[in-house]
Amino acid sequence: MIVEGRVVVVTGAGRGIGRAHALAFAREGAQVVVNDYGVGLDGSGASTGPAQQVVEEIEALGGKAVANTDDVADWAGAERLVDTALERFGRLDVLVNNAGFLRDRMLVNLAEDEWDAVIRVHLKGHFAPLRHAAAYWRGEAKAGRLPQARVINTSSGAGLLGSVGQGNYSAAKAGIAGLTIVAAAELARYGVTVNAIAPAARTRMTEPTFDMAVPESGFDAMAPENVSPLVVWLGSTESAGVTGRVFEVDGGRVSLAQGWRHGAAVDKGDRWEPAELGPVVERLLAEAPEPEPVYGAE
Ligand SMILES: NC(=O)c1ccc[n+]([C@@H]2O[C@H](COP(=O)([O-])OP(=O)(O)OC[C@H]3O[C@@H](n4cnc5c(N)ncnc54)[C@H](O)[C@@H]3O)[C@@H](O)[C@H]2O)c1
Repeated sequence: MIVEGRVVVVTGAGRGIGRAHALAFAREGAQVVVNDYGVGLDGSGASTGPAQQVVEEIEALGGKAVANTDDVADWAGAERLVDTALERFGRLDVLVNNAGFLRDRMLVNLAEDEWDAVIRVHLKGHFAPLRHAAAYWRGEAKAGRLPQARVINTSSGAGLLGSVGQGNYSAAKAGIAGLTIVAAAELARYGVTVNAIAPAARTRMTEPTFDMAVPESGFDAMAPENVSPLVVWLGSTESAGVTGRVFEVDGGRVSLAQGWRHGAAVDKGDRWEPAELGPVVERLLAEAPEPEPVYGAE
């Protein structure tokens, strides 16, 4: 019961990894706002069904939950989501940003609306709830009630290393990693930690791409439930002091991603001529580690 009594918002919690998070938080004693807009795999349509169903699953376990069916990337909707936690449970301790969808296509064919929709749902869909939650936590801190608040964002291997056919998604997920370190730096003073995960699991999002049969017996390494224990721990007060980090998590494996760092440098102490730079870049490349391959690259 490491999150007993804590109030948790999980976005996109009607299905897949978000649903596993919501149930895992409830099993550890949290009160959960189950957000889901109930859209199709490509973001089309909307339904209140998935969020309501997970609320019923939590209640059947004896837990406390409330549904919210707002679009996380809608400014007023994201504010209503945060308000749902405050009105129903009187506080907010943890925000898990997880909702999103895909519109995969090679860049040369990627349409404007496919770019806009995927950037909007992931990147604005992280920022909008974060922004409204942060304003609440700042108010709490200023009133002398320093929060022990947690934000867990959802990036992806596609955002950390790149993924062929997912330029829109990779850009959004890389943006989420960048947003995470800025939010961690800005919100520390209000008692808020901000970390991100890059998960891998069998959901409707990945079933078409990966061959991930359910094993007949033994450990099912691709079950979405494997991702949630780390998210619950990050949501607990025990994770104080861990902030601005990105964890890769799948199966029984947890690893800490290494972010961008300054590398080898050459400083002329004056402005370079373009023609001088060939050997300089050659030297820098020779000194640097090879980049990791982009997922799906030849
Ligand atoms: N499955 C994986 O292996 C994997 C890998 C890397 C990252 N991710 C990320 O994990 C998260 C969860 O993915 P999943 O695999 O569980 O997918 P999923 O499709 O099973 O679940 C996503 C849920 O988000 C909801 N949603 C979509 N747009 C929304 C919006 N605007 N507002 C509120 N809810 C919305 C959907 O209705 C759906 O129920 C996503 O951010 C995804 O990019 C997943």
